[in-house]
Amino acid sequence: MAKKSTDRIKARRPVAARNKPAPRAKLRLVKPVHKDRVLITGAAGFLGSHLCDRFLKEGFHVIGMDNLITGSLKNIEHLFKREDFEFYHHDVTKFVHVPGDLRYILHFASPASPIDYEKIPIQTLKVGSLGTHNLLGLARVKKARILVASTSEVYGDPKVHPQDESYWGHVNPIGKRSMYDESKRFQEALTMAYHTYHGLETRMVRIFNTYGPRMRLNDGRVVPAFMGQALRGEDLTIFGKGDQTRSFCYVDDLIEGIYRLLLSDYAGPVNIGNPKEVTIKQFAQEILKLTRTDQKLIYKPLPSDDPMQRQPDITLAKKLLKWQPKVDRAEGMKRTYAYFKSLSKAELNEKEHFSFEKYARK
Ligand SMILES: NC(=O)c1ccc[n+]([C@@H]2O[C@H](COP(=O)([O-])OP(=O)(O)OC[C@H]3O[C@@H](n4cnc5c(N)ncnc54)[C@H](O)[C@@H]3O)[C@@H](O)[C@H]2O)c1
Repeated sequence: MAKKSTDRIKARRPVAARNKPAPRAKLRLVKPVHKDRVLITGAAGFLGSHLCDRFLKEGFHVIGMDNLITGSLKNIEHLFKREDFEFYHHDVTKFVHVPGDLRYILHFASPASPIDYEKIPIQTLKVGSLGTHNLLGLARVKKARILVASTSEVYGDPKVHPQDESYWGHVNPIGKRSMYDESKRFQEALTMAYHTYHGLETRMVRIFNTYGPRMRLNDGRVVPAFMGQALRGEDLTIFGKGDQTRSFCYVDDLIEGIYRLLLSDYAGPVNIGNPKEVTIKQFAQEILKLTRTDQKLIYKPLPSDDPMQRQPDITLAKKLLKWQPKVDRAEGMKRTYAYFKSLSKAELNEKEHFSFEKYARK
């Protein structure tokens, strides 16, 4: 007679276990956590990658998006193993679709340094206009709040010092930096139109010079330029007499300001930056001291579009967001130097960003 199927199962269990009930599959307790999803464009760039870190730390599910035109996957490779991080290699000037819900969108995709946007002027204009339009549309569909990255460049060559948010700027619409300045001014106008016409929840941050780890060494901005020269044993180049001033904000301070602004209920533009000014000459001397190098300072003619002074008025951010920068320049530069020192020789000597050739004509 054929054995019953239950007998067969019993027969396979160890003798000692036969009289005990069969073990049940273990129940895994899944924490009922709801993670809000946030989309960060420009995620592989300097600021975007720090935003990804911050939002993951706050417990969000982060979706990064970037076409890598000026960014690098190296900035976010430490996130690739995480289940709460996704990455889309995508150009935001093309239609943007993200499956599932979104709570917030942070639009940080855009070339940001003069040597970048002068090389790719049309992409720069497109990412501020078409890219912003695509993301505002996505925000509407998803009922998400959107924060767009604007810049102190909207003030152009300012006639008012320091600049507060009520200043309309002094911009040449066809000047050397116009592709960037006008792209960002259009971005602000479009974002405000979506807010007033569609009632979309929008935020705008006007970012002033920010520095820190993950800046690209060859992006032409003064902090990586001086650091690179010091590390390669070259003299530090000062344009003009070096009496032009800059104010530098450490990246952690900026990210904190952006985070607070996103969570605020203010739709107008807000300056975030560090108002502490330093002359370029003094700054170069500080770098020589920090890097303990005995290179010289060499002087070259000042480019025509180099602003003499840029300084944020952060009264609004202080009042509205209870925010002000905390990291002083000595500490911030120490952290930044530690990052640049960790780069390989090949990275230190890289003259051009690898992806320009690949993307510039698209
Ligand atoms: N760093 C600053 O001091 C500063 C100052 C003012 C404003 N901002 C703004 O902050 C944002 C980020 O600047 P950053 O310093 O991190 O620059 P970055 O070049 O390091 O990062 C920008 C990122 O955007 C990506 N990107 C560019 N065009 C894109 C497109 N069409 N589609 C998808 N991705 C694209 C790039 O590949 C890059 O990874 C920019 O919008 C910039 O205008 C930065």
